[in-house]
Amino acid sequence: MTRSTTARAAFGIHSIDHFALDVPNLTEATHFLSAFGFELETQGQQLLLRTPASDHVWAKVQEGACKRLSYLSLNCFADDFAPLCAQIVQAGGREAAPVAQAAAEGFWFEDPDGNLLQLRVGAKTSPGFKPATRNGPPLPRLRGASFRAETPTARPLRLSHVLMFTPDIRAGIAFYEQALGMKLSDGSEGIVAFLHGRHGSDHHLIAFAQGAVKGWHHSAWDVPSVDEVGIGKMQMQRAGYAQGWGVGRHVLGSNYFRYVRDPWGSYWEYSADIDFVSPGSEWPCGDHPPEDSLYLWGPDVPDYFFENTEQENTRT
Ligand SMILES: [Fe+2]
Repeated sequence: MTRSTTARAAFGIHSIDHFALDVPNLTEATHFLSAFGFELETQGQQLLLRTPASDHVWAKVQEGACKRLSYLSLNCFADDFAPLCAQIVQAGGREAAPVAQAAAEGFWFEDPDGNLLQLRVGAKTSPGFKPATRNGPPLPRLRGASFRAETPTARPLRLSHVLMFTPDIRAGIAFYEQALGMKLSDGSEGIVAFLHGRHGSDHHLIAFAQGAVKGWHHSAWDVPSVDEVGIGKMQMQRAGYAQGWGVGRHVLGSNYFRYVRDPWGSYWEYSADIDFVSPGSEWPCGDHPPEDSLYLWGPDVPDYFFENTEQENTRT
């Protein structure tokens, strides 16, 4: 059974600061990511991803031999940094060297799968409350939908969560709870597990799917309503990225989704109206049957959706 570890860690991270991805072709990445709605800046050998909503750099993409996570950067409060470092080491986190392209600040370590993580003191980028959405009926005498000619471009507001393949979901849950003070929100044995932050976060900040080996599956980007999820699907189809899954609605997390398949077989998700776990509150964590692990409504899951392409996309 997928379950939380029993003793709650004393300290916890509050946010993902950003992630860094290696991809085989930065020109292809630029086309895909600008179509998705990001504001891109080239800095040295990296693409920096921002949204129109803030100056925060949510992700960095750089050219590498194959598509893979380079590192995941996590933020904590200043008073929690030193005790969190000790907590990570006590939970079995192996100290590691920072990657060359990153600021060497903070504490660098590996999780049980060998994913490189950075702990640093930084801004709370996860929401402090459930953001308002535009879902729902319009006011009387106001149109709920725009005219086609006025269709806006879907643009992400912020990073919501990331999901990685792991060969051992239980070990992943245990480490992220004991080392990083996260908490299991919901899971489905042998399929998926979703973890939130204790200081207020979306239903999941970090999630895992069972795989034969570790790998990067998707990042999810919050948009204001289910309309932008559907509009995002259409704009990516027009840009040449028709493969993916959705529009649909998840059961676990409740968000509306459209997963757009990138040129390397991983996904960038438009997500709206995800559940929120308030600071200090207890989420009614459950171990759910497989039919609840994926969706409430939507199209069938494509055969390729859970392919782990980490090793396949090597630069030629
Ligand atoms: Fe997701």
